[in-house]
Amino acid sequence: EKEQVKSGLLKGRKVVVTSGGTIERIDPVRYITNDSSGKMGFAIAKAAREMGAEVYLIHGHTDAAPPAGIASEAVQSADDMYQAVLKHWQDCDLVVKAAAVADYRPAKTASSKMKKKGDTMTLELVKTVDILEQLGKTKAHQFLIGFAAETHDVEAYAKDKLVRKNCDLIVANDVTAEGAGFGTDTNIVQVFDAKGLVEQMPVMSKEEIARRLLSIAAERMNGAG
Ligand code: CTP
Ligand code: CA
Repeated sequence: EKEQVKSGLLKGRKVVVTSGGTIERIDPVRYITNDSSGKMGFAIAKAAREMGAEVYLIHGHTDAAPPAGIASEAVQSADDMYQAVLKHWQDCDLVVKAAAVADYRPAKTASSKMKKKGDTMTLELVKTVDILEQLGKTKAHQFLIGFAAETHDVEAYAKDKLVRKNCDLIVANDVTAEGAGFGTDTNIVQVFDAKGLVEQMPVMSKEEIARRLLSIAAERMNGAG
């Protein structure tokens, strides 16, 4: 059976998966987040375990609960997620950054509920840490997979992110395409490495994409790609 042949491909490997959207607090009762459902990252965590890996899942805000039987940690902000990933970074073999990390956070988090004042209000935002970029800068033996959520010029933006963040593979998806993106059970992705397109996947379940993606990564990590 095809799936059985693949089942041991990540045996002995430690895999960290990030999933879901981060939450950036404005005050104790308000926050900024995004539409990430967490489904893609959860599917990757499950597939990695099926392929024999020791999996650690770090997740932000998600629609459903994380899959049972996988070691997982809930985090809120981009900074929390970064700290959680760093704890595992040195001794892991593969990191898959499927999380939708907020690009900006409030410059200040108010310690008590903000009161309504004038007719307009301005919230100052500052850039969050780019977790993937930081990992790319300190990468040694680790295999790094990033995601790129795009609405146009998918290939060009994805390749730019791959290079800028020093990833081994990047998974690009056109989040506006039918059957793709946040919240859906299916996705349409293209996988790129530094040389170009590795695989164009037709519309498939997130579970099937996860298995195909990890097979590509495992073959490369095992020196057969
Ligand atoms: N990412 C991250 N930390 C951030 C922002 C993004 O680790 N602060 C990671 C995501 O988890 C994903 C990849 O970087 O694996 C690309 O995320 P994406 O939002 O598509 O790209 P950005 O670099 O944030 O650029 P933009 O949103 O402007 O397209
Ligand atoms: Ca972004």
